[in-house]
Amino acid sequence: MATKQETQAEPQVDASRDGASRGDTLSVTDNRTGKSYEIEISDGTIKTMDLRQIKVSDDDFGMMGYDPAFTNTASCRSAITFIDGEAGVLQHRGIPIEQLCDKSTYLEVAYLLIFGELPTPPQLERWIYDVTHHTFAHEDIKKFNEGFRHDAHPMGMLLANVGALSTFYPDAKHIDDDEERYMAAIRLIAKVPTLAAWAYRHSMGLPYVYPDNELSYSENFLSMLFKMENTFKADPRLAKALDVLFILHADHEQNCSTNAVRSVGSSGVDPYSAVAAGVAALYGPLHGGANEAVLRMLRRIEATDNIPDFLESVKNREEKLMGFGHRVYKNYDPRARIIKKHVEEVLEATGENPLLDIATELEKRALDDDYFTSRKLYPNVDFYSGLIYEAMGIPTEMFTVIFAIPRTSGWVAQWMEQNSDPDLKIARPRQIYTGRRDEDYTPPEDRDGPEKITGPPAKRPKKPRRGA
Ligand code: ACO
Repeated sequence: MATKQETQAEPQVDASRDGASRGDTLSVTDNRTGKSYEIEISDGTIKTMDLRQIKVSDDDFGMMGYDPAFTNTASCRSAITFIDGEAGVLQHRGIPIEQLCDKSTYLEVAYLLIFGELPTPPQLERWIYDVTHHTFAHEDIKKFNEGFRHDAHPMGMLLANVGALSTFYPDAKHIDDDEERYMAAIRLIAKVPTLAAWAYRHSMGLPYVYPDNELSYSENFLSMLFKMENTFKADPRLAKALDVLFILHADHEQNCSTNAVRSVGSSGVDPYSAVAAGVAALYGPLHGGANEAVLRMLRRIEATDNIPDFLESVKNREEKLMGFGHRVYKNYDPRARIIKKHVEEVLEATGENPLLDIATELEKRALDDDYFTSRKLYPNVDFYSGLIYEAMGIPTEMFTVIFAIPRTSGWVAQWMEQNSDPDLKIARPRQIYTGRRDEDYTPPEDRDGPEKITGPPAKRPKKPRRGA
């Protein structure tokens, strides 16, 4: 793009993109040089590559954007999930999440995310048949599980096993083959619940339960978790609540784990490996691990009388109010509103839980407190989901694993969209280099400094280290 001093730039028009505001440009003046630039605006966005023309000299690399957590940078174009964080709106392929939770099922939503349209009745029948008939995992996966310590975190096991699936389906590396993509989508959505349930059974020292093709997706998962004798019948209220939770967690546009899937997927790797990256990102306490952290927080609070002291410690920044706050929602997370309705139904089936009283009171007090409302901190999806899982008898360590089950369909949908995107390039951010340059190598005998390595290795571990 030419500078204004060279030519008077015509407004840029990109007619190829729907919704582009035609003729919109941004005028930028670089006060270092006095030069002005016209930068095209499309979809309310500028291309940061257009900043590169802004230079102080011919050998200057050119200007870049600095956005370490992508807080104001669109990394892709996507037509899957729409969020209006200020208004608390979430839609999949344009359909509000409230309608999907009310009228649809998780498997239908998974189809919608991946294929872009709700399925016709025969398409849905075929889709459910295909998912249901790929739920078995290779017997060798059981051997992997046996290699884990008895107290291995199930999310670590899931992460390893999802990555391992790529070795069972090596043809998945043909990522441009539609048939392979379809099979990978089916296998991932079908097998992740089996791998998740087996991780749980391993941690409990219980024999693994095989999938039951007669059951619905959520009933089958509950059966693989809890079946002890020949028959297992999930309470329909619990199966329904779990299905709704699956819908609510299916996709959430460019969150940390989806960004990980897209970043790894941009290298052209197979979808199992890309999805394993998503599982790894979801493992973190600021993302999928938050509902686990919420339960631990509620247990630590112990009684409603302790809530004021707890909130004081949050305000003093000694604690975080887990399950509150969101990068995108600066209003009540719409998913939290829907889940809240199901908590009571689940507790009707499973019996009272004193943690619910603590959660309800904590939410009320936080929303009455200017510290939280002025920062737009409202309950997010994880504030109540953990209570439902706990009421179902699911141990806390499994919460994030259960989050990964429905999110798999979102990851697959995003991976597929990415691989059909003409703008796809391998992800490779820039950096602002802040280190030293052109230093000479110092021989060991000429080096000064403390004897000990600073940081963790020099400190005594608080607990004895486990194992070798
Ligand atoms: N408790 C107390 N204070 C908080 C919290 C919280 N949960 N979340 C944010 N704040 C405060 C910050 O300290 C900051 O205050 P300041 O401006 O006075 O410094 C302000 O609110 C803005 O917070 P940021 O950290 O800038 O918000 P960001 O968008 O980076 O973080 C996040 C979002 C990570 C979700 C954060 O709110 C958080 O850690 N929440 C708790 C963990 C959680 O529930 N995660 C689940 C997210 S939903 C999901 O992944 C499915």
